[in-house]
Amino acid sequence: MFKLVTLALAYLAFASAQTGYTDWFDSTGTVVPTPYPTPGGTNVDRECGGDLSNLWLDVVVVVDNSKGMTNEGITEIAANIVTVFGNGTKIGNQYSDPRSTRLGIVTYNKQATIVADLNLLQSIDDLYQTIFSVLNTVSNTDDSFLAKGIGAAESVLQNGRANGVRSNYKRLVVVYASAYKGEGENDPIPVSDRLKSSGVILSTVAFDQDGDESLLAGLAVIASPNYAFTSKDLNLVGELQGVALQSEFSSKYKPPNCFIPANCFCPNLWTQYKANFDDEYSYKYGVCIRAATISSSWTAAKFACQNLAKNGFLATEYDGQKHNFLFRVAQNNTAFTAPYIYHIGLSYVNGGWNWQQPAGYPLKPMSGYSTWNPSYPKSFSSNIGVLEQQFSSDLTVGWQNINAYSVAEYYMCEVASCDTEKYCS
Ligand SMILES: *[C@@H]1O[C@H](CO)[C@@H](O)[C@H](O)[C@H]1NC(C)=O
Ligand SMILES: *[C@@H]1O[C@H](CO)[C@@H](O)[C@H](O)[C@H]1NC(C)=O
Repeated sequence: MFKLVTLALAYLAFASAQTGYTDWFDSTGTVVPTPYPTPGGTNVDRECGGDLSNLWLDVVVVVDNSKGMTNEGITEIAANIVTVFGNGTKIGNQYSDPRSTRLGIVTYNKQATIVADLNLLQSIDDLYQTIFSVLNTVSNTDDSFLAKGIGAAESVLQNGRANGVRSNYKRLVVVYASAYKGEGENDPIPVSDRLKSSGVILSTVAFDQDGDESLLAGLAVIASPNYAFTSKDLNLVGELQGVALQSEFSSKYKPPNCFIPANCFCPNLWTQYKANFDDEYSYKYGVCIRAATISSSWTAAKFACQNLAKNGFLATEYDGQKHNFLFRVAQNNTAFTAPYIYHIGLSYVNGGWNWQQPAGYPLKPMSGYSTWNPSYPKSFSSNIGVLEQQFSSDLTVGWQNINAYSVAEYYMCEVASCDTEKYCS
């Protein structure tokens, strides 16, 4: 099961099996993403960046060191933590590249101890040294109050991010617990609810020696959905070295069984493209969508999307899943009414139908998928832009080519997500 935990954490970065990216710094020092590799003939949507060495998060690890955890257990937890965060990730914040991960450490039993605030650890060596010197023996206390540990994590995050420090970085708290105890002021639910509602992802690992159901049930309530794990197979840690995280992910954790990738998200006002619009936990892509509800010609919409976000472009529909997703985005936006109509990033240019890409990148020829309405495409000498149009009273839309300068409609924009390949300030 520890393998699972590691995979879960790694998934924060490894939302996909894509590694074919390179990136570079533009003149202002921000990281510019390379859009995505072009696989032969088949267009695919961008996957979340998957490079652990470019993980950018603020993390607090909370470890129960009450007697119930056992010396052996706490040592294996130490190994697990460094395996997950000590494999190339830039620890600390003293790098010219803003993509780094700060890691705070809290231990707790009857009381909590802040071992490392968010600024103490500044290298992988620091991480190893601190983790193994602190997490090698348990305390001689039987009490284990989760609320104390989670509460200390909350203050580590508050103090480490005061005055807007790294406010654009996602926060993750990982709790390793051997017991679920607490009533009244030691009830862990209020503090964990507070954290989660402020946007922190809370992951729990039950150190479960004898199938303690109340522990598992309790932690499932505390954790963010899909983020509660158990440590049944604690001795698997050693095997982790050989685990090919990415390939496991691509085969095992593709939809529907996957977690929210903390380090793959969209800016405000943008909706992350996922396998199913209505299922928050469906597989997420490294793609953000935004409906623009000011009527514009196709050509104006093309330029507007490029200006709405750096490297933005009029949205693509490489397959039916993306087509359906964009339609759900429109349906869920009260500015739209039936019949639904919006421009998409397809146009007739250079003798063929081509999809928009970030400015400066070659267009992508349409490949495979199409969903023209009956009797379309019409003569494209003058009708080179494409929009989605609800064709009948059925709640579906299909493609129609239109004059790119005269037909004003709403439109859908697209941009790459913020992830290990793309830092968003
Ligand atoms: C460390 O990262 C490399 C490449 O990023 C990967 O091949 C290797 O399996 C990872 N090792 C562990 C223990 O996660
Ligand atoms: C639909 O729109 C509402 C209101 O803007 C929003 O709160 C909700 O998250 C949207 N649904 C999805 C699945 O994005």
